[in-house]
Amino acid sequence: MNAPMTPNDLSHVIEADRAHVWHHLMQHKFLESIDPKVIVEGKGMRVWDATGKEHLDAVSGGVWTVNVGYGRESIANAVRDQLIKMNYFAGSAGSIPGSIFAEKLIDKMPGMSRVYYSNSGSEANEKVFKMVRQISQQRHGGKKNKILFRERDYHGTTITALASCGQPERAALYGPLTEGFVAVPHCLEYRSQYPDAESYGVAAANAIEDVILREGADTIGLLCLEPVTAGGGVITPPEGYWDRVQEICKKYEILLHIDEVVCGLGRTGAWFGYQNYGVKPDFVTMAKGLASGYAAISCTVTTEEVFALFKDEATNPLNYFRDISTFGGCTAGPAAAIENMDIIIREDLLDNTVAMGDRLVGNLNALAEKHKVIGDVRGKGLFCGAELVADRGTKDPADEKKVMAVVADCMAQGVIIGATNRSLPGFNNTLCFSPALIAKPDDIDQITDAVDGALGRVFG
Ligand SMILES: Cc1ncc(COP(=O)(O)O)c(C=O)c1O
Repeated sequence: MNAPMTPNDLSHVIEADRAHVWHHLMQHKFLESIDPKVIVEGKGMRVWDATGKEHLDAVSGGVWTVNVGYGRESIANAVRDQLIKMNYFAGSAGSIPGSIFAEKLIDKMPGMSRVYYSNSGSEANEKVFKMVRQISQQRHGGKKNKILFRERDYHGTTITALASCGQPERAALYGPLTEGFVAVPHCLEYRSQYPDAESYGVAAANAIEDVILREGADTIGLLCLEPVTAGGGVITPPEGYWDRVQEICKKYEILLHIDEVVCGLGRTGAWFGYQNYGVKPDFVTMAKGLASGYAAISCTVTTEEVFALFKDEATNPLNYFRDISTFGGCTAGPAAAIENMDIIIREDLLDNTVAMGDRLVGNLNALAEKHKVIGDVRGKGLFCGAELVADRGTKDPADEKKVMAVVADCMAQGVIIGATNRSLPGFNNTLCFSPALIAKPDDIDQITDAVDGALGRVFG
């Protein structure tokens, strides 16, 4: 899909960027000597930078977001039409796209019934944390206010979201963080903490129960988990894990919150990651792929049972969710999300994700036969990781500089891949792949061919 590039002189843009833009998640010193990367155009799976160079994007906009690919005129038109008709009104009122999208979304989420709009994944997660704290105050006399999160999971960038962060390098230097958040062990079988367990998945879930018993079940209101851990190393859940997690939540009356900010809207080949594992959540949050980055939108979705806790005492002035997200009232988000969902349905992208995900994992496993540095390949749908190790026997992680050199080598070949980054000290060693759900066999092969060449050059 080769889009024509206009060879405009963008030197002024580069200099304006260098002089004034503070980029996300980036050390800036080296931008004094090399040009910042500016992406100017995208079509399908490909983007072009300011030098005119074409890249195959294997990470959907860097952070697993552009699920339906670049240059979608139908989404742009839906947003444009909506903005001209009605761009904004505060979320205390309804809107046409807000209502229609909520109905379509709930149709894909049996058991759920209410949608709360905001703007980012962090914010959507904070809404859950606030709801749980309010339930604690109003229903449990202040008990059940603690929130469990899992090592290696990430739930956002705000101070409270960082309190729920299982990636120490993300939270480092930003304390003191919000109180009342407690970590449970990770569930990465490749780095098993329970070598003698009959079932690693059950043992990893039982470790959550241990934390609950240690803290006291009456202190804990919520368990917050990613269905497949993303930035913490693309961790697919081990066999038996989710069934046991669900049992534990039920037994101790702990609400279950699934953070679908990455997995939501098709990334794993199901509408939502949790639907692969038969989980029945009380809260589901989503953002990135919800509108594929064509508009900023996030949703906090919950059940009618939870919603009822916020409406039944109509005469109590504090018995409703006293929260507002100003831009949660922007209509561009749900207008884009409606068309985004329609594209996934029209183009059969869930099935494509399963098929292309199988191909990607197959190709990565084939690379593992050839390159000893690949210690483990994990994935669900178009959401895959390859963990690089210095030694397969000891599983010592590969040198992070070399991991980043693989990413840089792929970039030089015109293929953008990712790697876990400033997440876990010493364990930022997983290459990440999350191409758009429209990927074709040739795209997948181009990605893994680039990795093959890069691994050979960097590791020999
Ligand atoms: C699983 C998960 N949850 C939440 C977030 C935060 O989303 P946002 O950056 O939109 O606030 C992210 C971002 O990467 C994420 O990966």
